[in-house]
Amino acid sequence: MTKYEQLVNLAGRRSIFYPASEIYTTTPAGLWSYGCYGVSIRHKLLDIWRKHFVREDGLIEIDGAVLMPADVLKASGHLGKFSDPITVCKKCNAVHRADKILTEVTGHEYREAQTNEELIKALRAHAVKCPACKKGELADVTRSSLMVQAPVGVGRQNECYLRPESCQSIFTDYLRMTKTMRVKLPFGIAQQGKVFRNEISPRQTLIRQIEFYAAEMEMFFDPKHGDYDKFETVKDYPVNIQRAGQEKIEQISAGDLVKNKIVSNQLIAYYLARTQQFFSKLGIPVEVVRFRELPDDERAFYAKEAFDFEVKTSIGWVELVANNYRTDYDLSVHSEGSKKDLSFVDEKSRVLPHVWEISMGFDRTFLVMLEFALKEEKERTFLSLPANLAPLHAGVFPLLSNKPELVSKAEEVYNDLKSCYELFYDESGSIGKRYARMDEIGVPFCITVDFDSLKNNDVTVRERDGTKQIRIKISELREFLFELIAGKKKV
Ligand code: ATP
Ligand code: GLY
Repeated sequence: MTKYEQLVNLAGRRSIFYPASEIYTTTPAGLWSYGCYGVSIRHKLLDIWRKHFVREDGLIEIDGAVLMPADVLKASGHLGKFSDPITVCKKCNAVHRADKILTEVTGHEYREAQTNEELIKALRAHAVKCPACKKGELADVTRSSLMVQAPVGVGRQNECYLRPESCQSIFTDYLRMTKTMRVKLPFGIAQQGKVFRNEISPRQTLIRQIEFYAAEMEMFFDPKHGDYDKFETVKDYPVNIQRAGQEKIEQISAGDLVKNKIVSNQLIAYYLARTQQFFSKLGIPVEVVRFRELPDDERAFYAKEAFDFEVKTSIGWVELVANNYRTDYDLSVHSEGSKKDLSFVDEKSRVLPHVWEISMGFDRTFLVMLEFALKEEKERTFLSLPANLAPLHAGVFPLLSNKPELVSKAEEVYNDLKSCYELFYDESGSIGKRYARMDEIGVPFCITVDFDSLKNNDVTVRERDGTKQIRIKISELREFLFELIAGKKKV
């Protein structure tokens, strides 16, 4: 079993995430729900994202509407171009992504950007049969739009769609931000929220969904002034880069990325370094990450320079973040579409800013982070999450549930701490089973009231990864837990 499969099992067992509307058989594939521990971990991941990027880099955060009128998406190009090549089995009617099945069958990389004709030719040349029924002949390749339509209004309906990427709200709100938020170039707008894509073959749980969370940042800058005042802070930081067409992954300092013209400017190098640093904070080892420079035929239609941030997992390299130099593409097309001048004007100049984008798939990040946290030992399974990413801070238990004096003391400890910490009170089953239940969902500490606690007014605090325990006075517990969670003390 791969680590990914172990994680999916654990997620189902503890309802970390699970298929949406699962009591109905008509629910389409690619829709997933998060249970309480999943939600809690995701909130913490969002906190770290906010702290690392929004707060530390001084970005403006917005939360735009998910429904957008067709005009926005016509202007952005999504209503014409955002589609995947598909082929249908003439025998069993299964629908497949033409580029994906060609890649699987031939072992060579085929891309969605290739023309229908190229893909048809390749399907015929390799005599590819339907991967579902193994027999059927495949029809000619056509395009299927990824846009999810959502007509709005009663009577006369407005043609609306669910946004396929959250950055479109950033571009539609950019003008307001320049007028109301007293910004100077360069500045950034960030947003986290749901996006929707009618994916042809949703699969691998949270990796390819119809509906998912994106966390996107669009940095607006003047292309004539690509210097960035925070750049010095990362100048010597080594970034893992795989140049287009090369096998090897090199560690290149942010300074050298600019000096050797691998990226266009300091702002881009700064955000590549900051993105890699973010993933280190999630416990993903730096040895398994890379920024893969995309060759011309793999870049999105709006991107001049692009690096996919990928992580090597048990199911291969997974793309977590698309980093794109979108130039002035978006502001140009939305200027034209909305008939509004989106130039940035200050005392010195008027410029249509360029955009560097950091587009993170939040669910994929969540899943990959959990895969690296998952540890299987002979006797137990645990999620070795950093304490600030764990779903709860601590479990609180009486050693035995049939001793009222232990139960009431444990309840006292729980009631005293619950306004400060996220806790789980549990008195059912053996103490070993209770520890195991906490370990499995990544709770870093367990507090147990035993017979000595009644005499000494203390408890044991057990740490998840090493299972070590120490005794702490109840009067010092609040402060001690704080320091443990902050990583300032150890058990
Ligand atoms: P892929 O090549 O895997 O289809 P993409 O290049 O279409 O991804 P982008 O459009 O660049 O992806 O989206 C930005 C990020 O959103 C990706 O890096 C990924 O983390 C996430 N993402 C994209 N599609 C999905 C999906 N269907 N389900 C979950 N996350 C997704
Ligand atoms: N905003 C970039 C993307 O989702 O593709």
